[in-house]
Amino acid sequence: MSKSKSKMNPSLRIVLQRISAIAVRSIPTRFSSVFNFVGCLAMCYLLVTAISFVSRNNNDNRSIETNEIVQEDIQIAEEIVDIKKEMESPPKTILYWTPYYNRTDFTVGLGQDPFIKFGCKVTNCIATSDRKLLNQSDAVIFHALQVNSRDLPAHRHPHQRFIFFLYETIPNTSIPCVGKCLPSSQYKPHYFNWTMTHRRDSDVYVAEPYGAIAPKYWTLPNQLPDELPPDTLPANPAVLLNRNYPHLANRTKMVAWFASHCPTHSQREDYVKELSNFIEVDIYGKCGTMECLPRNSHRCESLLDNYKFYLAAENSLCPDYVSEKFYRALTNDIVPIVYGGADYTQYAPPHSFINIADFKSPKDLADYLKLLDTNDALYMEYFQWKKHYAVVRSPKKGWCDLCAKLNDPNLEKKIKSYEDVAEWWVRKLPCYPGSSFLLSHS
Ligand SMILES: *[C@@H]1O[C@H](CO)[C@@H](O)[C@H](O)[C@H]1NC(C)=O
Ligand SMILES: *[C@@H]1O[C@H](CO)[C@@H](O)[C@H](O)[C@H]1NC(C)=O
Ligand SMILES: *[C@@H]1O[C@H](CO)[C@@H](O)[C@H](O)[C@H]1NC(C)=O
Ligand SMILES: *[C@@H]1O[C@H](CO)[C@@H](O)[C@H](O)[C@H]1NC(C)=O
Ligand SMILES: *[C@@H]1O[C@H](CO)[C@@H](O)[C@H](O)[C@H]1NC(C)=O
Repeated sequence: MSKSKSKMNPSLRIVLQRISAIAVRSIPTRFSSVFNFVGCLAMCYLLVTAISFVSRNNNDNRSIETNEIVQEDIQIAEEIVDIKKEMESPPKTILYWTPYYNRTDFTVGLGQDPFIKFGCKVTNCIATSDRKLLNQSDAVIFHALQVNSRDLPAHRHPHQRFIFFLYETIPNTSIPCVGKCLPSSQYKPHYFNWTMTHRRDSDVYVAEPYGAIAPKYWTLPNQLPDELPPDTLPANPAVLLNRNYPHLANRTKMVAWFASHCPTHSQREDYVKELSNFIEVDIYGKCGTMECLPRNSHRCESLLDNYKFYLAAENSLCPDYVSEKFYRALTNDIVPIVYGGADYTQYAPPHSFINIADFKSPKDLADYLKLLDTNDALYMEYFQWKKHYAVVRSPKKGWCDLCAKLNDPNLEKKIKSYEDVAEWWVRKLPCYPGSSFLLSHS
């Protein structure tokens, strides 16, 4: 009984969100969509009244579950207040001022759909690349590598957040970001209100192109896993919990490395060269002699099945920088060897990776890899975490957070701007030069 009630709630919410999405799409200006919202509100009331009527009539043995029911009623009431609030306030407009490389939709999408599709808790946002909507935008996003001083917004309004957006690192920036993130001529003090990057101290922390680890059977807020088709049993716990990897025993090759850039600020290529003196390393791409095309294709991905270890070496040793290489390895059944500037213990479960920084020298690392190679039990330890965690290849949380923060009334009054975004981005906590690492680990 109580189950069906709590289930009803999220779906009601989604229905309402869809209705408002349609309303918003069909009427372009803010004010007319407000009128539509009033219509939605009326529908919302009707639906909610009907639902509570039905669930109350179902509650025959009320005395037993009174407490639970009161609790749930309070929860439902709170949710309705949330929905009402969301519906009363006009959606926040997010304007992509620059493209993201060649994508005007930032690979995220346009309109309200992305926020609904991602299962965001707050979906009251509309993404657009239509510059005519500048004046009514709440956030204006600039991909830092594509900002052009002759092509900046002509106006800004005090409530708007101008957002410094960047997934990549800029390790070697003659300060302040000359010619790279923001050419000095267009670099204005206090230009950006918020940062949106892979660094966890960003105003909005986003890692969409990289990945994430999530406990298995996780649910996003207000989002249940899909219902099963008719006559389908749930996955067998006995099988799920005893998943093994027999094909691992057959692997004959040691270390694979795929790299498209060489040389790099991290000088990973120099470390790998030294490592290959002690253990077999197959180097695919520009830094080596082997190649698999097209890159990231299914065929190239399956090459990994021949190897025991995968070098997830970043091109720069920068704070909080963990790229998709790491998650690629974790997705496949291969052990990542990481080389990067992030605290990996914050990103993945214990014993899911090997960190180059834990070894005094490439030779020490090679010795350890050989030990794992000759001891299946030790090697298999690196897969235990897969029983409890799954890899998310394209986490949407950052975009959901952006929408939630734009709608957060507590942040409305918080005026913020970065006097010098380069100070935060490169100077305060610089990337560690690979040359320094190599000196201390050879
Ligand atoms: C963007 O560029 C990529 C690779 O260069 C290409 O595959 C893709 O089709 C382009 N997309 C658009 C929208 O132009
Ligand atoms: C946007 O706002 C500015 C400043 O308030 C105003 O001068 C300009 O005409 C507005 N643009 C549009 C398209 O409404
Ligand atoms: C950054 O690059 C410039 C020129 O490319 C070079 O002179 C400088 O030494 C580099 N700085 C660092 C810290 O790598
Ligand atoms: C391991 O390799 C052998 C011989 O190549 C093959 O017969 C067997 O099926 C493989 N086992 C697994 C689990 O892939
Ligand atoms: C954004 O930054 C501008 C320029 O520094 C400032 O005038 C404005 O008040 C800031 N807005 C918010 C919401 O922080």
